[in-house]
Amino acid sequence: MTTRQDCLALDARDELAPLRALFDLPDGVIYLDGNSLGALPRATAARVQQVATAEWGRDLIKSWNTAGWIDLPQRIGNKIASLLGAGPDELIVADSTSVNLFKALSAALDLAQRDTPGRKRIVSERFNFPTDLYIAESLARQRGFELVLAEADEIPALIDDRLAVLMLTHVNYRSGRMHRMEETNLAVHGAGALVVWDLAHSAGAVPVNLKGSGPRAGAADFAVGCGYKYLNGGPGAPAFVWVHPTITARMDAEQLWQPLSGWLGHAAPFQFTPDYHPAAGIGRFICGTPPVLSLAALECGVDTMLAAEAHGGQPALRRKSIALSELFIALVEARCTGHGLTLQTPRDAAQRGSQASFARADGGYPIMQALIARGVIGDFRAPDILRFGFTPLYTRFIDVWDAVEHLVQVLQTGEWRQARFNQRAAVT
Ligand SMILES: Cc1ncc(COP(=O)(O)O)c(C=O)c1O
Repeated sequence: MTTRQDCLALDARDELAPLRALFDLPDGVIYLDGNSLGALPRATAARVQQVATAEWGRDLIKSWNTAGWIDLPQRIGNKIASLLGAGPDELIVADSTSVNLFKALSAALDLAQRDTPGRKRIVSERFNFPTDLYIAESLARQRGFELVLAEADEIPALIDDRLAVLMLTHVNYRSGRMHRMEETNLAVHGAGALVVWDLAHSAGAVPVNLKGSGPRAGAADFAVGCGYKYLNGGPGAPAFVWVHPTITARMDAEQLWQPLSGWLGHAAPFQFTPDYHPAAGIGRFICGTPPVLSLAALECGVDTMLAAEAHGGQPALRRKSIALSELFIALVEARCTGHGLTLQTPRDAAQRGSQASFARADGGYPIMQALIARGVIGDFRAPDILRFGFTPLYTRFIDVWDAVEHLVQVLQTGEWRQARFNQRAAVT
């Protein structure tokens, strides 16, 4: 079995190790929750302060032009696109993931209604993240569609001539299971339907190739994703939306809107015309005024991720992510036997995102609280999931070893039974 010494040796050989210095991580903390809120990049605080004091404080409203504030959604969008196999001006930063999903799914339903009017099914995964299901439920009700939910394994059987839109999260938030994107796109397009992906747990975590490796049929149609997880954009960071350029071209040609037709998605917002004409391309997916301070922080996060390009890039990040989760799973299974922890994450690395989850019938919440009190931060997802995220930009192999050592101690001493660990906080 891997020893603590082995982990130190792995860290010494790690080509990505220098990137940890780009983050401001508190001493004594092992942070395994970058899948929920990424850590603070060192550059962020100074950059946000500069935007506040110099651009906002001194230059005031002129900064929309002089500091390029108005260009931020597209500028940062292009950087994120480069991580996801998408081209320039195909992806834009805006709103939250939930709101972007509403816009994207609604646009997908518009296309489905035109092309396959008899089809009434939106299919998704039963344990997809709740916001995805709630947004789809709302749109299904408004638009007269039916939302069909299934286990991940049952999805392929539902890709048939009743399907209008398949809406999936690429990496499941609970299990960390990853869908095969290109294979799924091919199947959905083969059935004459559309596919919308939520990349909240993928962007910056696993290689994503939205446009596929071959013909258009292997590419996605719509995608949304999150700025505050693996992209390290800060709490509540703006999200992004991507639409395949053949679809935006079609939306241009047929003058299709997305449902939140706000003024900054207009073709000429500063003409202030009373009627709406959508901007060309992805620009129409903007709704209102972009949150400049949050965008400044997000750009620092994305730049920190792009810094990995000089250290082996996405392939190196993926290799390390797999090695970290593999090590964590092996150590937990070897050292925590008899404590009721059951692996929820696929053992096959090709089907795993950048996290490892264990279910525990009861006691999951207080076990996580006891770990957090010891400085090992993961999170708990009701009803029974202990979730540990691995961010290869800053997580070390020694962190994994030490986290498991703490887990062993929490379980063996039973310290998690203390009353203070059993009081549920609002956020788990
Ligand atoms: C898959 C997925 N989608 C969306 C969200 C959150 O969306 P929003 O940022 O709109 O709250 C999360 C949050 O964890 C998520 O896991």
